[in-house]
Amino acid sequence: MARIELKNLRKEWGGAIAVAGIDLAIEDGAFVAVLGPSGCGKSTTLMMLAGIYRPTSGDITFDGARVNDVEARGRNVGIVFQSYALYPNMTVLENVMFPLRFKTIERTEAERRSREVATLVRIDGLLDRRPGQLSGGQQQRVALARALVKRPHLLLLDEPLSNLDAGLRLTMRTEIRRIQRELGVTTILVTHDQVEATTMADRVVVMNSGRVEQQGTAEDLYERPATLFVASFVGSPPINLFDGHAAGGMLSVNEARLPLADPVQGAVVLGLRPESLRVNGSGDSGRTISRISAVEPMGREVLYTADSAFGVIRFLEAGAEPRHRESDDVPLGFPPASALLFDKDSGRRLDARVAA
Ligand SMILES: Nc1ncnc2c1ncn2[C@@H]1O[C@H](COP(=O)(O)OP(=O)(O)OP(=O)(O)O)[C@@H](O)[C@H]1O
Ligand SMILES: [Mg+2]
Repeated sequence: MARIELKNLRKEWGGAIAVAGIDLAIEDGAFVAVLGPSGCGKSTTLMMLAGIYRPTSGDITFDGARVNDVEARGRNVGIVFQSYALYPNMTVLENVMFPLRFKTIERTEAERRSREVATLVRIDGLLDRRPGQLSGGQQQRVALARALVKRPHLLLLDEPLSNLDAGLRLTMRTEIRRIQRELGVTTILVTHDQVEATTMADRVVVMNSGRVEQQGTAEDLYERPATLFVASFVGSPPINLFDGHAAGGMLSVNEARLPLADPVQGAVVLGLRPESLRVNGSGDSGRTISRISAVEPMGREVLYTADSAFGVIRFLEAGAEPRHRESDDVPLGFPPASALLFDKDSGRRLDARVAA
């Protein structure tokens, strides 16, 4: 187990910047998810932690000791890739034992440890099979056992669930969480799936274009997104965003005018979550008559699209049955505290609020 720190960590490929100087501290035993869109530098960061890629600049420390010059084998890091990368000609047991081959451990001891970790990940009944004779979920467990057999200081998981079907993904989310808790191993999970990140990890680090946009709990990211990027990346269906202009204590967004509780001037983006909007809510701000243009039942809630004074807006209502129909006019508003305001130029969230 180890406390991990990244200090101004940077990776360039030729002239292209994959990781643009990130700072991150991960406590011993923590489970952190790195969330971000394709190409934002998640895997590159993980590969630098594993010692597979060399940073262009910056430092990586494990328990305060700089490991930049320690090669992969010396770092004692377990890694699971999306593709599992199992050896097809070896049995499951041999696959799990493989990382111990360089260690000065007796074969019997290596086998005992491998069987122990196989029990932990619940593949003890499959040890004589070959990877080709396993389901995707079983292969995933073998890859996990292989990553854990060395009792790593740090466990790195790069999109480990993306090859599994939806049901199995749910099971494995819970399983990985259970195993991580049982071992207390510091774990970093890379994913572009916000639900996976927020359900599995204690803390989520959102990356974009090689940078850390924000880190925090799921609630921090959702309720207090630091930037427009985080606001639009976290939350499903996505937040409604409208360009507006603030002057003289009022925010103008298309046809709508909202009083502001705090002084703001200039170009502002208004963010309204689909689940914050309500029909006929008491004490709501921004109440405008909106015409519904689409009704999409989504199981336990209904998603509506409407033409409002703000522009085209989407809102959610709980319940399986739609309460409004296409072409209905509804008074749509939102609790003033739920509105998020962002500086248009910097993309950063403003502390300012809409007034009641
Ligand atoms: N070996 C490499 N050589 C050159 N460029 C690379 C290399 N590996 C990654 N890159 C570039 O670095 C950037 C970050 O890639 P990275 O694989 O870290 O993204 P990612 O966040 O893991 O994306 P994904 O979600 O698609 O896996 C990308 O622009 C990618 O093209
Ligand atoms: Mg990747």
